[in-house]
Order: sequence, then C-alpha cells, then structure tokens
Amino acid sequence: MPNETSITFIGSGNLAWHLAPALEKTGYGINAIYSRDLTNAAALAKRLKNCIAVDHLDFSSSPSSIFIVAVPDKAIGTVAKQLKLNKDAIVVHTSGTTAMEVLGSFKNRGVLYPLQTFSKNKKIDFSSVPLFIEASNDYSKTIIATLAQSVFEKHCYLSSEKRSQLHLAAVFSCNFNNHMLHMAKNIADSNDIPFQLLAPLVQETIDKAFDIGPENAQTGPAIRLDHTTMDAHKAMLEDNPELKEIYITLSHHIINQNKAQ
Ligand SMILES: NC(=O)c1ccc[n+]([C@@H]2O[C@H](COP(=O)([O-])OP(=O)(O)OC[C@H]3O[C@@H](n4cnc5c(N)ncnc54)[C@H](OP(=O)(O)O)[C@@H]3O)[C@@H](O)[C@H]2O)c1
Repeated sequence: MPNETSITFIGSGNLAWHLAPALEKTGYGINAIYSRDLTNAAALAKRLKNCIAVDHLDFSSSPSSIFIVAVPDKAIGTVAKQLKLNKDAIVVHTSGTTAMEVLGSFKNRGVLYPLQTFSKNKKIDFSSVPLFIEASNDYSKTIIATLAQSVFEKHCYLSSEKRSQLHLAAVFSCNFNNHMLHMAKNIADSNDIPFQLLAPLVQETIDKAFDIGPENAQTGPAIRLDHTTMDAHKAMLEDNPELKEIYITLSHHIINQNKAQ
C-alpha cells in the first residue's frame, strides 16, 4: 500500500542495505542515502526508486520525516550532532548497545533494533526477525510502531538498559559462535577436510540448545573431565598459542559452570 512517509538512511552498510529495500517494498519512499563515501551511498540508492545519494548531513530542506541512523555504534553520537533536520523529524538509531539518549538533541527520537545478523551478500527474511523499539514520546512511538509493523512480524518495546543486555547475549550467541565456526573452518581447511561435514553437528547443537536448554545439552571432553583428550588437543594447538589459550579458557569455563550447576 502506498505510504506518503519518506525516509532517509544515514549509512549504507550491512543493515541499511537490507532494511531500505524492505521498507520501500511496503510502500515507504526512501528519499536519500548518506555515506561519507558517495560511491557507497550510490550503490544502495541504485537499488531503490527515486533515491538520491548524498555525502553531507544537512537535511534541513529534505522531504523525509524519518531518519534512520545506521552507522557503527561509536559514530552515532558524532553523526547525530552534525545532522541538520527539520525540528519535527524523527531520528532513530539501530544499535543494540547504544542508549537512545545519544540522540538527545532531537525531540522525536527512538530506536529500531533488529535482533538478527545482516551481511550485504546474504538475503534476509525480515518477517521472522524480532524488532525492539524505543521512543522518546507518544508521537514518535506511533510512527515507529507503524514502521515496525510494516516490515517485522513481531516488535516490542524495550528500554535502552534491557536492550544492551540483550545485545550482550546476542554477541555470545551469534558473534562468538560465528568466530568459533571460523576457527573450526581454519582447522578443517588446513587439513583438507570439507567444512560442510560439520553442518549437521552445528545444526543439531543449536536445535538442542533451544529444545532442552544449553545447560542440559553440553557434551565433549571438558564436561566429561577427559584430560587425556584435552591434553591431546592442546598439543595440536602448540603452534597457535592464542587459539590454545581460548581452548583452555573455554574448557575451564565449561568445567566450572558444570560444578556450579
Ligand atoms: N549488521 C548487523 O548484523 C546489525 C544487526 C543489528 C543492528 N546493527 C546496527 O546497525 C548499525 C549499522 O551496522 P552495520 O552492520 O550496517 O554497519 P556497517 O556495515 O559497518 O556500515 C556502517 C555505515 O556507516 C558508514 N560509516 C562508517 N563510519 C562512519 C562514521 N565515523 N561516520 C559516518 N558514517 C560512517 C559507512 O559508510 P562510509 O564508510 O561510506 O561512510 C557505512 O555506510 C550499527 O549501529 C549496528 O550496531 C547491525
């Protein structure tokens, strides 16, 4: 359904790359994409209808009423200070850990935090992504909730404090997990073992953690207190002291966590 609300994205990275077209599909107009590097803004603007690429932050005569700041967390505050907008515009960021108050200079402000991992080269189905929102006043809340409903099947309000705890849990469950898979792939690759062989094991691990709880699902040499196997693994990591350290730390943590249960 056509929607007269026009949106500008500040940032053209992984999240904006997917969210801008998804919002456009539901009828929002994406008016402009900002990036410090115009080529990056243009690459995303090209995927949208009637969208311009810009490399300045003066939007005082922009037709957009919503500004989605999708830049790295550490840059949100600086970018917000430089943004020149119509005083009624709504400004939201998309970060897990950054407080909404970083946008404190705007009376209509909020947060749109999608609990999912986005990379430009991987398609994403937004309808299954949970979205956590925050708003500074009722007006912003209504507009942000309408936007949320248009793309995301589920959304709920969450304070900045709770959202940063959720983000911490997301870093352990997603980012660290992926890093472990990367390390596993390096070991497989350097021994000419196809990484794909690990797929059923990894999928079952995730399914089992959500079926019976991760605290009931741990297996492996650490929980069995199998020091012979752990010593063999440590010897295999002799040439990679950093990875050996990670192996030892995680194994200790599994043993101690199990004792505490
Ligand atoms: N990716 C995810 O999985 C994910 C999930 C949930 C939430 N988020 C949140 O979404 C936000 C954006 O994340 P992302 O993954 O899309 O980041 P990203 O891929 O690194 O893209 C960041 C964008 O910001 C621009 N940028 C970088 N540094 C900047 C600076 N100092 N000042 C102004 N612009 C700058 C970059 O383009 P130029 O270098 O051309 O300026 C790029 O367009 C973050 O707050 C993140 O926490 C991300």
